[in-house]
Amino acid sequence: MAVDSRRPDANKVPEENDSRPRFSRLGVLISGRGSNLQSIIDAISQGRLDAQIAIVVSNREDAAGLQRAREAGIETMCLKPRDYPGRDAYDRALAAALETHRVNLVCLAGFMRLVGLPLLAAFPNRLLNIHPSLLPAFPGLDAQRQALEYGVRFSGATVHLVTSELDGGPIVLQAAVPVLEDDTVQTLSARILVEEHRIYPEAIQLLLDGDWSVQGRRFVRGASPHSRRA
Ligand code: GRF
Repeated sequence: MAVDSRRPDANKVPEENDSRPRFSRLGVLISGRGSNLQSIIDAISQGRLDAQIAIVVSNREDAAGLQRAREAGIETMCLKPRDYPGRDAYDRALAAALETHRVNLVCLAGFMRLVGLPLLAAFPNRLLNIHPSLLPAFPGLDAQRQALEYGVRFSGATVHLVTSELDGGPIVLQAAVPVLEDDTVQTLSARILVEEHRIYPEAIQLLLDGDWSVQGRRFVRGASPHSRRA
């Protein structure tokens, strides 16, 4: 499915600032287990997410998520950083692979690399990430451990647009998860993960539906030229 023919204006040429992509082809970037990738695959097959995954790319050959993708009949690719002279060259190769597969929204799902300018420039406001904390609290690695050690009463999950600031882009969706007295990193991570799997497909659909804009730091819904006319 290249064009969403169920939408009445699917063939309309997008206006400037129109946040709706014309196609819903996702590229998913992973480095490991791929449970968020699985939640996207499941949401598509259950009709909760109107998109297709054009390609799954990993920076690691041993990423278990690659197998999940293959089982779902999705094309996979492994791009190893050591095969490229530097970060920019790697990011350019990544962007080229995604463009070749006509991807219009890139979803980072446990992709353990910083995203550099070549990729950001190729997909402006078209890169999403999921992070296991209520950002801006606890960016970076081991977010669940950071939350436990800090002693917060709530943590959670955040889906955000990717910018050059680590885990610092405009927030699309969040879900809060209470931290319990007897939580360990494992138990807290498991409860946060349930929320990750719920909100990531939802956030992707929200982006694909359009009718949003970025105003300063904020992701604002219902602020496109379309909604103003409605
Ligand atoms: C998730 O906790 C996600 O929030 C973080 O990395 C983890 C990836 O898990 N960015 P999985 O590979 O999707 O199971």
